[in-house]
Amino acid sequence: MNKALIFVCALVIGISILGFSDHTLKVDFNKVGTKISPTLFGIFIEDINHAVTGGLYAELVKNSSFEYSDPMDGWTINTYGSGITAEVASKTSTSINDVNPNYFSVKIPVNGEWAELSNSGYNGIPLEKGENYDLSLYAKTQNSTNTIHVSLETSNGKICAEGEIKNIGSVWKKYQITLTSSMTSDDGHLTLKFDSVGSIYLNMISLLPSKNFHGMRLDLVSMLKALNPGFVRFPGGCFVNGNTLSNAFNWENSIGPHTDRPTTMDFWGYDQSYGIGLYEYLLLCEYLGAQPVFVINPGMSWQGSKDVQIVPLQDMKKWVQSALDLIEFADGPATGTWGSVRASLGHPKPFDLEYIEVGNENVGQDYYERFELFQRAIKAKYPQIKLIFSVGPNHGGSQFDNAWDWAKEHGVDVVDEHIHATPDWFLTHTGRYDSYNRKGPKVMLGEYAAQTWDKQSTLGAALAEAAFMTGLEKNSDEVIMASYAPLFNRAGWSQWAPDLIWFNGTRVYGTPSYYTQVLFAENRGDVVLPSSVSDNGYAEQGKGYKHLYCVASYDLKGRDIIVKIVNPWPNTEKCRIDLEGNPPLTGNGQSIVLTSNDPVVSHIPFHGRINSVNTFENPTHVAPITKKLTGLSNSFIYTFKAYSLTILKIGTEGISEEDEK
Ligand code: AHR
Repeated sequence: MNKALIFVCALVIGISILGFSDHTLKVDFNKVGTKISPTLFGIFIEDINHAVTGGLYAELVKNSSFEYSDPMDGWTINTYGSGITAEVASKTSTSINDVNPNYFSVKIPVNGEWAELSNSGYNGIPLEKGENYDLSLYAKTQNSTNTIHVSLETSNGKICAEGEIKNIGSVWKKYQITLTSSMTSDDGHLTLKFDSVGSIYLNMISLLPSKNFHGMRLDLVSMLKALNPGFVRFPGGCFVNGNTLSNAFNWENSIGPHTDRPTTMDFWGYDQSYGIGLYEYLLLCEYLGAQPVFVINPGMSWQGSKDVQIVPLQDMKKWVQSALDLIEFADGPATGTWGSVRASLGHPKPFDLEYIEVGNENVGQDYYERFELFQRAIKAKYPQIKLIFSVGPNHGGSQFDNAWDWAKEHGVDVVDEHIHATPDWFLTHTGRYDSYNRKGPKVMLGEYAAQTWDKQSTLGAALAEAAFMTGLEKNSDEVIMASYAPLFNRAGWSQWAPDLIWFNGTRVYGTPSYYTQVLFAENRGDVVLPSSVSDNGYAEQGKGYKHLYCVASYDLKGRDIIVKIVNPWPNTEKCRIDLEGNPPLTGNGQSIVLTSNDPVVSHIPFHGRINSVNTFENPTHVAPITKKLTGLSNSFIYTFKAYSLTILKIGTEGISEEDEK
């Protein structure tokens, strides 16, 4: 045979075997790999970027209790008359309690005079036509004929709803009224008008949309529900550390009536009110079907400060007791000291806490000594609770290594790593956990996000995270939990980007990274199936990337083989998918693709390349598209789009019970 003929024959054979594919992706249905942790993909809630205050907490009034650093923050006063006094008073015998000593006081001396107190929330109170709003306030007066006229108005004074609170008594009492808005406005305000002669005192002025989930915004809660989280890490972050111990999150202050919850300066520089406290977070976890992972302060303020405060070891008893009490509050019998408090709030059934994290990004000897105190006490009383240990803010380096060594030597259950790095880093470290020692502590990747140079939540960043997440899923025997950070950002009120979910008063959208998280969590299999891609080296800028990043798994209930493939590059990749081990296919399946058709903005560096983003105007510009697949066989060709995350769900007839074991 001449050379040309040999070449043509080889080509023909090549076409029929490979079907012109660029790669072969093999999935082995015969070999069951790692079991995938049901808690693998979770969420991390911290009050940063007004995530909770002015965010998840549906309260529309800013500074309900007049306790913010500026007691009149959020409020404006209008008066008509000469002798009126309208001001915040504090710490008098008239205060509602010692926790919330400030209150608003207005005195009208003469008939015909009046005063108005208005609040426009966070950039205006959003009102929707036909929706109900529950106004509540505490009031008392020295004049029993006193009346408060309440109204919801647009920014240019059009009345959307009005009502009256009458017959106010001489002791503090809660008054409530429901207002129905006749108009839609995203920059409304609440106005309280006083025109009766006499003095009136007010506190805890609250306006909540009647439709809420235990005080939480429904639109934001449903964004969380769609994330299908296996766990919720809360309530921080540095928010737990506090700038000093005085503003570290204190769970005891966060339960019970709002009148008993103090306001503190949030670590991130704004006032917060404990509107969503431990109990509400636990209810949220229950609703989401997620394991609660509470982070408790270890007796140390934020270690990034040169003025870090550390509780002396001999005074740590109270801090350790607080952790034990918290576990009892969440998990104890309804008859116990703290379990009965939970029951009195309406939840006699325990919340089934399995984990508690002691510290956030803490490191060093001081931390180790304090962690050990918690470890000893918690394990003695609640041996079933797993403790999570922090290894600092960095994902490498001597502090990190020392902390890991300490964790291994001291029988730590789970270590919390945090990774904020470039998209490039995520693409080149997908095998990070391959070599972790399975005999040591498990890993919770409690915070991670790919950060572009301009902190944009781009498709490029989302794909880099997705590539990394294929490595998390493959190593899910070691990495049992992972959550993106931060979760929320209120536009115009932020301290940190990128974030997963952006919102304002009326709208919300998920970034491309949000959809990556949704897709991984929604399509998490039960066991990993070994997989490999041929000719998978992709060299650029002298770095060893992969053409395609992939993980395969099997979903026992849905009976699907699930293959997740990330192609972060400009070329489409044609791939033969070989399912080895003869899985009994139905022939049907689905492809779910996250990509965009935007022109490439810049080529190098990687993180500047795919700038597609979602916005309020175009919230699903980058969002998954699902298509049916038919005629699937154990060897088929699929072309992966440029810049895409693809989930292939390949239906099977199921496996026998024997195999299932
Ligand atoms: O996710 C934002 C911050 O990043 C967290 O508060 C902190 O733990 C980390 O440094």
